[in-house]
Amino acid sequence: MTEHHPVEGNLPKTAGASEDGHDIDWWSILSDRDFLENPYPTLHRLQARGPVQFDERSGIYFVLGHKAFGRLSKSTAMGRDTRNWLGGWTSDDYRQHDPVGFRLFSEFQPQMINCDGDEHRRMRKVYEPAFRAQAMSRLVPMIEQQASRLLAAMPDDGQVDFIEAFAAPLPLRVLCELFDIPDSLDVTISQWSASLIRIGDILMTPEQKREAMDALRDFKDFLREQIRQRQDKQENNLMRLAIQARLDGTLDEDETLTNLVSMLVAGHETTVTLIGNGMLLLLRHPGELERLRQDPGLTRTAIEEFLRMEPGGNMILRVALEDFDVEGTRIPKGAPVIGLIGAINRDHARFERADEFDIARQANAQFTFGGGAHFCIGAPLARLEAQIAFSSVLGKYRHIELAGPPEWRLDRMNARGLGALPLHVRTAA
Ligand code: HEM
Repeated sequence: MTEHHPVEGNLPKTAGASEDGHDIDWWSILSDRDFLENPYPTLHRLQARGPVQFDERSGIYFVLGHKAFGRLSKSTAMGRDTRNWLGGWTSDDYRQHDPVGFRLFSEFQPQMINCDGDEHRRMRKVYEPAFRAQAMSRLVPMIEQQASRLLAAMPDDGQVDFIEAFAAPLPLRVLCELFDIPDSLDVTISQWSASLIRIGDILMTPEQKREAMDALRDFKDFLREQIRQRQDKQENNLMRLAIQARLDGTLDEDETLTNLVSMLVAGHETTVTLIGNGMLLLLRHPGELERLRQDPGLTRTAIEEFLRMEPGGNMILRVALEDFDVEGTRIPKGAPVIGLIGAINRDHARFERADEFDIARQANAQFTFGGGAHFCIGAPLARLEAQIAFSSVLGKYRHIELAGPPEWRLDRMNARGLGALPLHVRTAA
């Protein structure tokens, strides 16, 4: 790790660095407001320099090529356990350098996404039954009911912020229904979730780290109490899977709580983004919106195309467990690697008309849910929610158009989503 520590919380800035020069200031580029508004032209320019690039300042390898990411995301030589990151979040160096960050990442560590091999499989196995096809089909009526409830509160003819009225509350309520958490807690949970989702951003200010730490403690306290109150109840939901795993010793207490927190955070904003970004893509391509109305059978491929074109989560982390050669670059053991999914999903070497939005695109090998052992466990749920969301919204409204400029959230690097999407909607054509 060189002088600019990647996890110190303040963006490394280097005077005179330019994207076109030899020396790229990656973190300045990735956090630049214009980039956050529309990252794709810059990502293409960076991609043209090579599929794998090393940032000397932070010691991070950036992956922008589809083939390279496909290989490394699935390789057992590349893990997701940040304890193997030399000089990373769990190192003594980092403990001295940033004690708050060290405590935060340590308390967030014991969960499936941060473990590899047997440890990872042991944790993931607990939740796998909840995401199988049969379990998903049982959820359809509940998700449809939640979507209808939200749509009933929206106007028949008028203006609405689609994020606030529909895209944000639907995934949160669905997730809480899965854990049987009452809707009186929706606001609290979404506040905890908003503080914690930043952990995926790598670069956090000291204040954001403290906020995330408070949220993590409160969230764990809440869940500890839920488990205590509900451990003798015979429920049939995700909370029961967690409680059972705790009771039979599959998970220890901290693993139980951290995995629960993570599930509730991971499944929320990501799906809000999928629904919000998907709607914006359709509105910006009225021909494709009409095509979807004419042929609702295209909903499945349309959702894959939303995920490809606007992945929402833009960075996927790996740590090299051994030296790994990929596309002419050797990644040494202990080095962190970040896949830039916005570039990977639009790699011209892999996709024809990579920047074109085509809701009927076939063989859509997008990497928005990651790859290999850590491939998103909640992907079937996110896809199902999006299908129901779009069928319900397009079913109710014959007419939808932008009522003002969409607002991208510009305060995060790894969550490209909309803060507001003002729409004019009408049930009549
Ligand atoms: C559009 C929505 C979603 C997106 C874009 C998304 C994206 C991701 C990504 C990129 C990963 C890491 C994959 C890797 O490292 O290769 C991941 C893992 C994970 N996701 Fe999702 N996710 C979404 C929805 C959900 C939902 C709905 C849930 C739960 C209800 C969820 C729970 C998880 C969990 C627990 C992991 C860790 C899996 C493991 O390490 O084995 N996600 N997700």
